[in-house]
Amino acid sequence: MASLYIKKKNGAEAPVPERDVIEFLRASTTGWLGDSDIIALEYGVRSINTRFPAIEIGSFCGLSTNIISFYIRKYNKSNSLFCSDKWMIDYASWAGSGMKNLEPEITIENYHDFLKGSFTGNCRMFSRTNLPYAIEEFSDDFFLLWEKNKYAKDVFGRDVKLGGNVSFAFIDGMHTYDFAKRDFYNADKYLVKGGHIFMHDTFDGGPLEILVKEILKEGKYCVVMNNPNYLLRKEK
Ligand SMILES: C[S@@+](CC[C@H](N)C(=O)[O-])C[C@H]1O[C@@H](n2cnc3c(N)ncnc32)[C@H](O)[C@@H]1O
Repeated sequence: MASLYIKKKNGAEAPVPERDVIEFLRASTTGWLGDSDIIALEYGVRSINTRFPAIEIGSFCGLSTNIISFYIRKYNKSNSLFCSDKWMIDYASWAGSGMKNLEPEITIENYHDFLKGSFTGNCRMFSRTNLPYAIEEFSDDFFLLWEKNKYAKDVFGRDVKLGGNVSFAFIDGMHTYDFAKRDFYNADKYLVKGGHIFMHDTFDGGPLEILVKEILKEGKYCVVMNNPNYLLRKEK
């Protein structure tokens, strides 16, 4: 079962594939991915067996983006990666954070520009040969564009058409039950059978783990990993 996947018989964790590269990416880019998250991303990408794009909801500074892009290259996949993030913090969160104390030298707008600039810079550096198509939209709007097969300009200035099937999805945007649920079911609409969805922050009996358990009850997905975040495979 899921959590057994990364445990060797002696109880040690399975190694992160290409750990040296991953350590370098982690040291260079801000993010929160643990080894088990990376193992799940690697598995999801390695298992892709269609040419449809992968999607990522919530990119932040590009750590997961660049890890997904790296494994796409490592396994000689031709899949493109589409990302959704607006790099916008709401004012209440800003006001409740230490950043508020830096005003007026540093504003919420400065922080948006910094995050977006970090993302684009990190991707231009580490995904230079397979730059993701990063759309500066919240996920609900991203999926509306996807549904309508719309063209959009990505953050690297390229016009790109959205839509169609999806091979793999990483959901790591707004971590509330309602948002994650919409992101999951929006991704599910396009995910091919046999494709994987990795959902971050789905642990500890919190709202997102409750969501995953509801999804599992429907019988359409099975658990591939639960370390403690869930990697799900679409069975039907
Ligand atoms: C935990 S961070 C993502 C970390 C990134 N996946 C990584 O592992 O490097 C969450 C991100 O989700 C973004 N976000 C928040 N609400 C969102 C939404 N509704 N749609 C898309 N992205 C959203 C935030 O701007 C933030 O950059």
